[in-house]
Amino acid sequence: MLCLKAANREDIEKEYLFVRDVPEDENGFINEYHGISREDFDDALDIIIMNSRGLRLPEGYVPATTYFLWKNDKIIGQFNVRHCLCESLENGAGHIGYYISPEYRGMGYGTQGLQLALEKARKIVPEDEIYLRVHKDNPASLKVMLHNGGRIHHEDDESYFVRIPNWHFDKKQP
Ligand SMILES: CC(C)(COP(=O)(O)OP(=O)(O)OC[C@H]1O[C@@H](n2cnc3c(N)ncnc32)[C@H](O)[C@@H]1OP(=O)(O)O)[C@@H](O)C(=O)NCCC(=O)NCCS
Repeated sequence: MLCLKAANREDIEKEYLFVRDVPEDENGFINEYHGISREDFDDALDIIIMNSRGLRLPEGYVPATTYFLWKNDKIIGQFNVRHCLCESLENGAGHIGYYISPEYRGMGYGTQGLQLALEKARKIVPEDEIYLRVHKDNPASLKVMLHNGGRIHHEDDESYFVRIPNWHFDKKQP
């Protein structure tokens, strides 16, 4: 079974091993906790959880929730959902960033995980569209977005800027 679970203290041991091994930057998915010690992750996890409630955010950051993608009892991916846009997100990384462990790629988990992340985002995000950005040399991620109803809104030299319709939990789904 596949599910998305917000970062939490009960799952700290599995969350730690996953986060420690995610690279620092792969295709623009940034992991500031790469290689972190178990001791330091204890505090980092508190901050991750607080960020979700809008607390202990770096200057200029909006609240963001870190979700882990679980396949049964194993974490195989991470989806970061920013709760709203600020100027840098609007013109940059957008609402959602994601990562699937290399050994689980090419099996549809990125596509299914983004579908689950969109369900979460649609309960939080006030904007009419979910904004995403993908490097032009990352066709797998672009497909993940397009499979989830994304359309390329515009592009620059390096990236496509993709938008996915948002409908709020209190609105009828199309
Ligand atoms: C991008 C990423 C999330 C994709 O995850 P995934 O689980 O492999 O995605 P899926 O299995 O759902 O595959 C998505 C599509 O990409 C296609 N694909 C995979 N590798 C590809 C490649 N090298 N070139 C073209 N298409 C590719 C798959 O065939 C699939 O298309 P299909 O459903 O039409 O067959 C994963 O590679 C990853 O975590 N990469 C590192 C971090 C990253 O790039 N994050 C996104 C930043 S925008």
